[in-house]
Amino acid sequence: MMKINELPTPFYIVYEDRLRKNLSLIKRVKEAAGVNIIMAFKANALWRTFPIIKDYVTDSTASSLNELKLGREELGGDVYSYCPAYTPETIKKYLAGSKHITFNSVNQYERFRSDLDDWNKSHPDSVVSPGLRVNPRCSVIETDIYNPALPGSRFGVTADALGGRLPAGIEGLHFHALCESTSYDLQRVLTAFEEQFGHLLENVKWVNMGGGHLMTKEGYDVEHLIWLLREFKNRYPWIDVILEPGSAFTWRTGDLITSVVDVVENDGIKTAIIDASFACHMPDTLEMPYKPAITESVDAAEGHQCYRLGGNSCLSGDYVGDWCFEKPLEIGDRLTLEDMNHYTTVKTTMFNGISHPAIVLCRSDGSLEYLRKYSYEDYKSRMS
Ligand SMILES: Cc1ncc(COP(=O)(O)O)c(C=O)c1O
Repeated sequence: MMKINELPTPFYIVYEDRLRKNLSLIKRVKEAAGVNIIMAFKANALWRTFPIIKDYVTDSTASSLNELKLGREELGGDVYSYCPAYTPETIKKYLAGSKHITFNSVNQYERFRSDLDDWNKSHPDSVVSPGLRVNPRCSVIETDIYNPALPGSRFGVTADALGGRLPAGIEGLHFHALCESTSYDLQRVLTAFEEQFGHLLENVKWVNMGGGHLMTKEGYDVEHLIWLLREFKNRYPWIDVILEPGSAFTWRTGDLITSVVDVVENDGIKTAIIDASFACHMPDTLEMPYKPAITESVDAAEGHQCYRLGGNSCLSGDYVGDWCFEKPLEIGDRLTLEDMNHYTTVKTTMFNGISHPAIVLCRSDGSLEYLRKYSYEDYKSRMS
């Protein structure tokens, strides 16, 4: 049987048991709160793991036609679409594959309303329910790049702009204002949403509360979330509630395992160069930015060796630092960059032609399976 420490680096590894643990919790919340929780592929779309996910959740949200197709083909349940802007080329395909379609602006709804009506008239067995994304202008996210509720945001219609009533035919409201947030953050957003849009709720069939509900993070108050959702449902019993988290599905379910390939020192700064790249394989570390945990590192203390880690691309900024280790790092040392199974493989690039880390699944029984290995052909086929 293959062992993790014998596999050549770099590779992402996904743990089936950790994934099932998250999925069980999500299913429990879904059942206890009486809501639908669907999977957002923006955070993770490793479809070869979908046979595991399907045991718990089959519905998904799509923000592109590719996500829509993948949801239908590989998860098999209903697809709920939200795209910042539909076009005449895409709208019919969205209608043909979606259960709900959320428009980002009143303009968009008006532009495509006749396509929607035509579709629904000619497909009585698969009608699509239209919704509008609203912006409750309640900002609970510290990282601006992930904050859809900043002043001037392009996402969703504000209460002022809506002018007190819903466009005729709109059946649902959608808001997305969270990112790696708590149930208490949701409570604040929900209060703002109800203050601004509550008068419209008697005429809506569904409310989609977007993503960002990090219910699988240690310390998340799951019972409070269930209570909050049940209270909402008690106030509006005719409304179906949908949550569409991404990160919560794959939070802490996998790592990126790399090796040190060189150690350089300039101006007193020691950099261990690894056989992966922050820019290409862990883009959030630079975009947010944040410093990922490394299993082999230790807290700074006397006698410990501290290093910046550098990616193997030519981008000057492709580094993060600093971490300390008990012993000096040497070529061949393996480093485990933790929690790299959300917003990673969906965002990676082949910049510099750097080889993409393989993707490995560690089954619950400890056996290892390559989900994907990358080759020169993958790089070449993206170019023309
Ligand atoms: C509209 C929408 N729904 C769902 C999500 C998923 O959010 P998360 O992965 O933070 O749960 C996002 C993330 O950007 C989003 O924009």
